Amino acid sequence: MQTVEKPIVRLIHVDETLPLRKMVLRPDLNLSKARTPYAGKEKSFHVGAFINEELIAIASFIEKQNPYWQEERQWMLRGMATHPKFRNAGHGTLVILHGFREILKYKARLVWCSARLKALPFYKRVGFNSVGKVVNHKNSGPHQLLYRRFIPIYAK
Ligand SMILES: CC(C)(COP(=O)(O)OP(=O)(O)OC[C@H]1O[C@@H](n2cnc3c(N)ncnc32)[C@H](O)[C@@H]1OP(=O)(O)O)[C@@H](O)C(=O)NCCC(=O)NCCS
Repeated sequence: MQTVEKPIVRLIHVDETLPLRKMVLRPDLNLSKARTPYAGKEKSFHVGAFINEELIAIASFIEKQNPYWQEERQWMLRGMATHPKFRNAGHGTLVILHGFREILKYKARLVWCSARLKALPFYKRVGFNSVGKVVNHKNSGPHQLLYRRFIPIYAK
């Protein structure tokens, strides 16, 4: 049986995410443009998985309301990417689960994302549900709105 090396998963700086994000998601963007949606005034954090000190999977979480839902404290997940050499080994899942633990520290009630259709099975496996129609993005193809609620276990 093939053994999969376990990555170290931790918070990283937004600038660390840019090369992998550009390579996997938006080769058309220059790095400074790729940074803009991830480094605004909203609260945000970035998660990375490392194998032998190489960053191989990333995700960003940004506190951002989507008018589709009423909940307070919504977080957007974006920029989810695993290096092609390291896919289908659970690394993306570990990165998302690390992000869920972090947003719960902010008492998040809901996490949402606009997902590429190809990645739907991946998101559904970690508890996302789809809503609305498929929307075509000019530079990155068809996307589906997804969400996952968190149980309101916190004291006010
Ligand atoms: C989507 C993406 C981030 C998933 O990353 P990943 O690290 O491959 O994710 P995982 O390995 O956790 O899960 C992927 C699949 O591998 C399978 N898998 C997980 N661990 C595994 C293991 N140990 N052995 C074999 N397969 C495994 C999972 O069942 C999963 O299958 P599914 O997607 O059909 O549900 C990656 O494919 C990617 O970067 N794609 C291109 C960019 C993209 O589309 N990003 C999303 C933008 S919305």
